[in-house]
Amino acid sequence: MRNILFFILFLMITWALAQPADARPKNRLDATTKTCRVLESGPLEWASRPWGEGGKAFKEVCQGCHFKGNDRGATFLWVESKTSAAWNRVFEQKYPKCAKDGSWEVLDPEQKMRVNDYLFRWGKNSQSLGDNC
Ligand code: HEC
Repeated sequence: MRNILFFILFLMITWALAQPADARPKNRLDATTKTCRVLESGPLEWASRPWGEGGKAFKEVCQGCHFKGNDRGATFLWVESKTSAAWNRVFEQKYPKCAKDGSWEVLDPEQKMRVNDYLFRWGKNSQSLGDNC
């Protein structure tokens, strides 16, 4: 009986050690405000999670147009549509048509930064990003 318990414990430890370490970015340098957004701990960590403020705003506002099969002429977008650096460029340069025509204005500047935090943190290839600032 004891041996079986030890064996199960051994399996659990082996499994835990085999899990890849979460190397999501710990922070994000916001080019517009020149501030370092700490995403590793504190309120911004929660806000930048899929169910946090940034994740929700992306779903409700951005994907309100950018969903599959929409009739607004918007391409389907999800968090992995772009790399973290490319998402930063979207918010820094505000080059998309929708950023210029006022479609983003339901979000205040802090909310936009939180959407940016969320997309940066979980974007394509974000697992391999190191420190940003
Ligand atoms: C009112 C509808 C609408 C809303 C809301 C909206 N967009 Fe757009 N967006 C568009 C349209 C239309 C285009 C131009 C067609 C295209 O390229 O998808 C566009 C273009 C883009 C592009 C360029 C396309 C690409 O693949 O690179 C990006 C990036 C983008 N939007 C991101 C966002 C983000 C981020 C938000 C939320 C902050 C947002 N959009 C909210 C309608 C919208």
